[in-house]
Amino acid sequence: MSTVSNLKAVLGSFFHTPVYGGFELLERTLIELDDDGVIERITRPDDAAYAEHVAAARTAGEREPGSFMELAPDTYMLPGFVDLHVHAPQWPQAGVALDEPLNVWLDQRTFPLEARFADPEFAYTVGADLARTFLSRGTTTVLYFASAHLEGSYAVSRACAEAGQRAIVGKVVMDDPAANHDFYRDATPEQALVDTEEFLTRVETLDAQSRAADPRFAGAYAAVTPRFIPSCTDEALAGLGQIAAAHDAYIQSHCNEGQWEHGVAIERFGKTDAEALASFGLLGPKSIMAHCTFMNDGDTALFAETGTVVAHCPISNAYFANSACPVRRMHEAGVRIGMGTDISGGFSPSMYDDIRQAVMTSRMLEEGVDALVPQERRGAGRPSRISAPEALYLATKGGAEGLGLATGSFEVGRAFDAQAIDTRRPYADLTGFGVFDEPGDKLARILYLATPDNIRQVWCQGKLVIER
Ligand code: GUN
Ligand code: FE
Repeated sequence: MSTVSNLKAVLGSFFHTPVYGGFELLERTLIELDDDGVIERITRPDDAAYAEHVAAARTAGEREPGSFMELAPDTYMLPGFVDLHVHAPQWPQAGVALDEPLNVWLDQRTFPLEARFADPEFAYTVGADLARTFLSRGTTTVLYFASAHLEGSYAVSRACAEAGQRAIVGKVVMDDPAANHDFYRDATPEQALVDTEEFLTRVETLDAQSRAADPRFAGAYAAVTPRFIPSCTDEALAGLGQIAAAHDAYIQSHCNEGQWEHGVAIERFGKTDAEALASFGLLGPKSIMAHCTFMNDGDTALFAETGTVVAHCPISNAYFANSACPVRRMHEAGVRIGMGTDISGGFSPSMYDDIRQAVMTSRMLEEGVDALVPQERRGAGRPSRISAPEALYLATKGGAEGLGLATGSFEVGRAFDAQAIDTRRPYADLTGFGVFDEPGDKLARILYLATPDNIRQVWCQGKLVIER
């Protein structure tokens, strides 16, 4: 969907996190886009050419309606979110069955549901609804696990492309007959590899054709996707590492999620999950690994050395990871980190909910949770908390940098992916009532309190994809 594709200039106030640690407010700033929906020029009020650029953009807007937009004073733009970990076929069960342990939840609840993606029409329906739901919550870029089916996975790519969302999708590989139901797995390791290559080719074609038809097409990418070590044979894991290297493709999987998964790799290989993935050529600068809670210092160093990206999924981790992800420790060790909702291990399609949970979890990791344990042994024993702006970085530019895609902040050369937050909605007033007017307070109230109703418009690659 695209109702406006000729947007050339936006005048308003923009919050973003160009570097980890703080935030920046670009007040009454003019952002201009090129024909491809990429930010071409940013002019701030203290710039000598400000009045001239604003006047020119306004005049152009009168000539060409829709090319100029001015935000209301209580509206702020944030970058579109980048969600680094989602399971598209699990969307129908978001919020369901979260009281089971991971292996039971997968085997008894999730795999039978994912098997429904054998029907590509069902896959398209679910994928399209999820893509639109994400967009409505401000998420413009998503890294998806689809299902083990070639056609069902391709339906997810098509649904995202048609919804106007930038998507990286993987056909899931889960080929080990000893670990998977016969009704839902790759027939053989060879077939898993053939289907993966076919999927990469199809998505490449979809991307090329879509870009040729629309200069503001946001992008369709494919990822090599071994579900996780326990689902896959050695043969499939090694083959996928080779395919990814040959195609310079993204790789995604789960790593060190919880106690059970952590133990499987050690028993099978005498190695940690991270070491085992590395041995199959599955870690590297285009690898995005979900969860990563059971990371020892060696695993963390391995991630930093290889440039592997962590998809931090704080809501899901509260249910399935048996631990809290040491985000601050990994960041300080040089690991690249973004954030993921992990639908449906995480119940919420809103990255706002994960930003909030990321901050809360980090505080609980630092302080500990059991008051009966003496204070000196209760917490992680080192600073572990992260701030709300740091969590915003993970949800925006951190994810974008993790994918190597030019989005996630308002900087020249990056796609104009943005959400307009009206802070003065009925029943959702985020203004601070004139008492809390500092930029940090305004941003905090947006991050902690924004509801879907506050997100009035969303743009992806300069195209309006949501208007409430
Ligand atoms: N590990 C392997 N598959 C899954 C999944 O679908 N969700 C979660 N949270 N962990 C997994
Ligand atoms: Fe997951």
